Amino acid sequence: MPFTANRDFKASPRLVVKSEGVYLWNHEGGRLIDGSSSLFNVACGHGRKEIAEAVSQQLHECDYSPSFQMGHPWSFELAQKVTRLTPDEINHVFFTNSGSESIDTALKMAMAYHRARGDGQRLRFVSRERAYHGVNMGGVSLAGMVKNRETFQAVLPNVVHMRHTWLDANRYQWGQGEHGADLAEDLQRAVDTYGGTTIAACFVEPIAGSTGCLVPPKGYLERLREICDANGILLVFDEVITGFGRLGKPFAAQAFGVTPDIMTMAKAITNGAQPMGAVAVKDSLYETITEAAPEDAIEFFHGYTYSGHPAACAAGIATMDIYEREGLFDRAAKLAPYFEEKMMGLKDIDAITDIRGYGLMSAFDIKGDGNAMQKIFFKNGLHVKFTGNAGIVAPPLVVEEAQIDDLVAVIRKCLTEN
Ligand SMILES: Cc1ncc(COP(=O)(O)O)c(C=O)c1O
Repeated sequence: MPFTANRDFKASPRLVVKSEGVYLWNHEGGRLIDGSSSLFNVACGHGRKEIAEAVSQQLHECDYSPSFQMGHPWSFELAQKVTRLTPDEINHVFFTNSGSESIDTALKMAMAYHRARGDGQRLRFVSRERAYHGVNMGGVSLAGMVKNRETFQAVLPNVVHMRHTWLDANRYQWGQGEHGADLAEDLQRAVDTYGGTTIAACFVEPIAGSTGCLVPPKGYLERLREICDANGILLVFDEVITGFGRLGKPFAAQAFGVTPDIMTMAKAITNGAQPMGAVAVKDSLYETITEAAPEDAIEFFHGYTYSGHPAACAAGIATMDIYEREGLFDRAAKLAPYFEEKMMGLKDIDAITDIRGYGLMSAFDIKGDGNAMQKIFFKNGLHVKFTGNAGIVAPPLVVEEAQIDDLVAVIRKCLTEN
């Protein structure tokens, strides 16, 4: 099973058999609040009939169409809807089936772009400690979380890691910390050590998500952008968690006012109803790659059988319509102060050692073992995804204030009684 203690699971299964709104139901009939939007993907809440109907209708009308040398209308429609949300210069999208595939695709796009410009010696990548970029070999190479890479040594060479952005000085800071903009100078050090002309791209999660919601310090992302610009390095934002309203704006790029060259996304693009990922790039990248190839030639030798699967596109289109119709990104922005107040209200709990957050995304660190605590939460009617000792709370954007109160009450109970 994925990221699961198999033997422990067998001994004590935790099955989910039903989902609706912000709730999940386990196999014993117990109801759980979905405090992490499942795996940060179910942003509109569970059981959205519009999405189910759109997928069903799509499967009846055209269940599949070859994705190589052919297209279908729904992938273009979804691409248009997605690029209405991306920054102005980013108007081209390549569909994948997951966040991990999006990362591999972005790595290849960076290589293809530099090669198309006659700059093909740029084969080094910069990433960060505590980074999570999925589990394909590209993402594992960029990874900065030790458990995800220590077993898998045959990774891409030439990846340099910057320091992560968790700082003691920013402990219990909601939003962007005052301290740590200088951590971006690690990118400058990579330039000074390896030569800026050898570096293809710098990959960061704007907020490091899976490791426990590390919000970038003030000025940090801006400085990364400056160093990239000065050295011809592409800046890649991995927005697999931060995309689609989690931060109260369509993407972290807008929340932090920094535009990357490439954005990876997945998860909430279909509200979790179908597997899908996407990579969005600046027009200049798309044009450089396509124009470098002879007429009629395939410009980018990459793609998946299920790139832009019609059913996933239908789910994506229906999801984008829900975001727009229900104004969910603004809703998240309006709810964010309440969420902040309630999460920060847990500060007095002895078992908690830090709380961080931004928008409807937050994390708390605990003294004990996160896996054990996740199971205790489950028994007490709450799903929160833990990584190491960090519990990551990111409820669906449709959550009500009273449901936030309930969620926080379960956290308090479990952490004070165990
Ligand atoms: C920032 C980031 N990138 C990539 C991924 C991988 O996505 P997937 O699990 O869909 O492959 C994740 C998953 O949590 C993620 O958080």
